Amino acid sequence: MISMNSEIRKNHIFITGASRGLGWSLAKVRWPSRDSLYLLARGALPLENHGERKDTWFFPADVQNIEQTLSTINEIFSLIYKEFGKGREQQGLILFQNVGVVEPIGFVGQIFSEDIIRNLHVNLLAPMLIANRAMALFQDLALPMKRVVFISSGAAESIYAGWSCYGAAKAGLNQFMKNMAKEQEGLPYPFSVASISPGAMSGRMQEQIRAVSETEFPMRRKFVDLFRSGQLVDPDMAAQQIMQWSLGQDFVNGSVLSLRDLLMKG
Ligand SMILES: NC(=O)c1ccc[n+]([C@@H]2O[C@H](COP(=O)([O-])OP(=O)(O)OC[C@H]3O[C@@H](n4cnc5c(N)ncnc54)[C@H](OP(=O)(O)O)[C@@H]3O)[C@@H](O)[C@H]2O)c1
Repeated sequence: MISMNSEIRKNHIFITGASRGLGWSLAKVRWPSRDSLYLLARGALPLENHGERKDTWFFPADVQNIEQTLSTINEIFSLIYKEFGKGREQQGLILFQNVGVVEPIGFVGQIFSEDIIRNLHVNLLAPMLIANRAMALFQDLALPMKRVVFISSGAAESIYAGWSCYGAAKAGLNQFMKNMAKEQEGLPYPFSVASISPGAMSGRMQEQIRAVSETEFPMRRKFVDLFRSGQLVDPDMAAQQIMQWSLGQDFVNGSVLSLRDLLMKG
């Protein structure tokens, strides 16, 4: 359950990869709330059924590009800092590091160098740079809630031929998070940081997985079967659960969880 406190508190919620999929679903969960939303992606937000919302900012940026990532992050975090100054009520800061790309899919030796670089920039380097700026700016702020949620994948631990880059990046992200969590333990105003994997979820990423050949990705059939049998996770459901956990009292610094763990706890 989201505690009563999170309902009377105003949260500043930053989400990367917010234009579709899980990122947009996470934003939609807090659409009816008083929270301030800071949303980043390359493409526009699908606002058709949602319309304008107070205290919502969209930042178009490509996190493949290091300079653009750093300058956009500085802009977003400066804005959040200013917004903190305005409110009298208790305020929380929750950063969702959700942006992710599965490509390149294919065996090492048969993928392009540029695609390897892009994968690591988006999945690993950008979240590391964002976390680093967040700690630099917000570490000494005494807020009732300071959290970073890294959206991970089962591929961080399971082995899939054809997903070497994706798996390596997500494993790296989890390890980065665990080290950060250890650093925060002894600090006066610590962030809590954790990773969560949503499981195979319907949307663009799964379409890309089904679109490759079995030579590139021998486990393709498993994902086709999940799709055909209607077993892919609904991003709106995943977002509801992940948001509830992210704002709730069961959020444990340094933990690596899956959506299945949250559902089993009920
Ligand atoms: N889908 C799954 O089955 C699955 C399973 C396990 C884990 N995950 C993880 O869950 C997270 C969300 O996945 P998803 O399925 O929602 O993905 P998705 O539908 O492909 O959405 C990815 C989001 O990231 C943005 N994005 C991609 N490249 C970007 C870039 N270079 N710069 C800025 N934004 C960029 C996309 O927007 P623009 O294209 O507009 O920039 C989009 O908003 C990812 O971290 C993924 O690894 C997904």
